Amino acid sequence: NDEWKQLEKSFPPLKNDLLLRAAKGEETPRAPVWVMRQAGRYLPEFLEVRRTHSFFECCQTPSLASTLTLQPIDRYPRLDASIIFCDILVVPQALGLEVLMEPSKGPVLPQPLVTPGDMSRLRQNVDVQKELGYVFEAVTLTRKGLDGRVPLIGFCGAPWTLMAYMCEGGGSKTFEKSKSWLYKYPEDSRKLLRIIADVCADLLVGQVLAGAQMLQVFDSWAGELTPYQFKEFALPPLLHISHKVRHVLSSLGHPGVAMTLFAKGANSPSTFSLLSDPSVTGYDTLGLDWTVDPLEVRGWLGNKKVNLQGNFDPTVLYGGKEGIEREVERLSRIWKRAGGGWIANLGHGITPNVKPEDMGWFLECVHKYSKRD
Ligand code: CP3
Repeated sequence: NDEWKQLEKSFPPLKNDLLLRAAKGEETPRAPVWVMRQAGRYLPEFLEVRRTHSFFECCQTPSLASTLTLQPIDRYPRLDASIIFCDILVVPQALGLEVLMEPSKGPVLPQPLVTPGDMSRLRQNVDVQKELGYVFEAVTLTRKGLDGRVPLIGFCGAPWTLMAYMCEGGGSKTFEKSKSWLYKYPEDSRKLLRIIADVCADLLVGQVLAGAQMLQVFDSWAGELTPYQFKEFALPPLLHISHKVRHVLSSLGHPGVAMTLFAKGANSPSTFSLLSDPSVTGYDTLGLDWTVDPLEVRGWLGNKKVNLQGNFDPTVLYGGKEGIEREVERLSRIWKRAGGGWIANLGHGITPNVKPEDMGWFLECVHKYSKRD
């Protein structure tokens, strides 16, 4: 089955491969840079589209998703990557749960999973082509629109983070509903995480076959878990995803793509040591949040096999031009000392009140100060 080969041949050649090189562990002349949530509410052109289209309509309409993906690329020639416009919560939707995006509250799932019996409400053997084919169409359309300017990243949410939304019914401060599942129903929790992981893997494979050149898995709520819970519950389905993605792609003759894991807040040295070897985990790059020091993390990892991504405090973007420049200079020096592949990014998503010109200045500064001399 070499349909993907024909499609790949139809795309314009890639002009900027800095991200893909850093993701292979190369110490690139400067750090490639992109920003989580770079297509978002801080951009007036994004808000303009959202005036007339709901959030999930944007995700589900390939032409809109593609337009939104390209907005930051058109505005900021200094970006080294694009990420497909979508949301992690399309996986719970594919599993049959309703997800709403409420302007003031964020995501709301009106019928969360309360007890293991509720798992019977989930769709069995999800056909991702049928449920999430719009993502694949958006990916293909975006590869054309990019015209080879930068690589396109595909993504999904991690099973634990998705389970948290599915059990809480939305965001949470305490995660008492989802975490109590882990204590009360450990075996059912594992079963649920595995069901979610299978859909995630199929979604990632579909994105690669449609043209995604790299993948990222967002475990935004990993930091809510104890190191023991991360190892026992969050990690196995993450490994299932990376292994299934690699296995399915290779069975189709596809060479595979680099994969990044962003396990926000999972910052204990023991957790990093579990993630230190890409040949074991399938994740070539680890995303760091802003609460850790890259040099210290390199020490915990004990080698330079795994690449790192991050980890500017998202709030630096409110620091004014001088504040941004000072911080980018300071942290870039540390990153260069840490060595290994470095992909510059924020330590979490960009927030809605950032001024677009400050984002531009941040990118400018990363280009200047991440240069290796
Ligand atoms: O990075 C990008 O530019 C690609 C698009 C993207 C979105 N969501 C668009 C979005 C990506 C990669 C995501 C991932 C996502 N979604 C995560 C993981 C990353 C993280 O921030 O931890 C999570 C936890 C979600 C769930 C989600 N979606 C929340 C909690 C919210 C509401 C809060 C918020 O930040 O807006 C969303 C909505 C959402 N997803 C928006 C965008 C642009 C804003 C909604 C709007 O337009 O009204």
